[in-house]
Amino acid sequence: MRKLWLVPVLLLCASLTACSSGNGTSTTGTSNSATEADTQGAETEKDAATDGAAQGGIPVAGACWYNFADTFISNARQTLLNVAKADGRIEVIDADSQNDVGTQTSNMNNMFTKGVDYLVLNNINTGAISEICDQIKEEGCYGIFANTDTPSDEDFAKNDKLYSVASRAPESGTIMGEAVVKYWKEHPEADRNGNGKLDYVMLLGIQGHYDTEVRSEYSVKAIQDAGIEVNQIGGELICEYNRAKAQEAVAALLANYSEDIDCVLACNDDMALGAIEALKAGGFFKDAGTYLPVCGVDATAVGCDAVREGTLLTTALNNPVTLAKAIYKVMALTKEGTEVTTESLGIAGTEVEGHRVWISYKAINADNVDEANYDITNTSLE
Ligand code: BGC
Repeated sequence: MRKLWLVPVLLLCASLTACSSGNGTSTTGTSNSATEADTQGAETEKDAATDGAAQGGIPVAGACWYNFADTFISNARQTLLNVAKADGRIEVIDADSQNDVGTQTSNMNNMFTKGVDYLVLNNINTGAISEICDQIKEEGCYGIFANTDTPSDEDFAKNDKLYSVASRAPESGTIMGEAVVKYWKEHPEADRNGNGKLDYVMLLGIQGHYDTEVRSEYSVKAIQDAGIEVNQIGGELICEYNRAKAQEAVAALLANYSEDIDCVLACNDDMALGAIEALKAGGFFKDAGTYLPVCGVDATAVGCDAVREGTLLTTALNNPVTLAKAIYKVMALTKEGTEVTTESLGIAGTEVEGHRVWISYKAINADNVDEANYDITNTSLE
């Protein structure tokens, strides 16, 4: 069971000092530049928040995000804090796993020690999902897997308090693949080395992560399904959803394959933007003759800027606001004992299947880029 007695007295005292702002914990600092101070801030407020819950206050949710510095995650994180603050029924505290499995484990254990009522886990320990589900069950709190691999049917069968909220990754892969097919068909010159194959570079996110696996598979599948022969250049390029890593990987490939690459498929916009930087430095994107199709996923603000600039061919709107609102609404519904269904959740673009909440993507390109707007300060729960 929960081990509140383990909360060190000193930390508790420190947190009580920091507790004066009342309900709706929000961490300080800009959401996409996680600093030591941000994390420390969150830790401090966590103690205060959970102390409130222990004394019969509102329920507390502990969210462990994989990386505060990730563009998409920082938007989801900030929205969740904003929604919780505005709604006031559930307090949200959070912690940064800093893209490290060990840090995630220790953050999770911290949340359990503090006796959170909900654990929201943006899990990167994808090889240990069942073990984590067992731990959540043992702790007795609700568990919500967020934007990551969903637990198995067996895991769900063991625990009524388990949920997952994630986007339908096959859709995002298909959106990228179909955009490339369209481009290929409309541009005979797209086969740059004339080998009759579509030579693509695939930039992968975190190894084993659901979105990485599925987006890479379905993007290539859509191209093959259109009858186009493909050839992968550079093999498995694991860039962990990171712009700098993707830039480095593509820059390295250009040394040997500058004349061969026909397109770049990136499992998120940050990596697509890294690829575009490297391509620009390598002489691409100077004019129509040096254009190269690059696709991403997320439709982040910077991703959309690249669509407008004419470098990013397409992206798939992965809405962090919808993700955060769906997470919060699942918690609010379970708190009041209401079954979570598509209707009771009532958030546009979501569908509930059992304890799994799925979010749809939307293809974004130069024609509809202005439709990719989302507002992380919008706290309405619909
Ligand atoms: C997003 C990525 C993000 C990853 C991390 C994905 O759904 O598209 O941008 O880095 O989730 O959880």
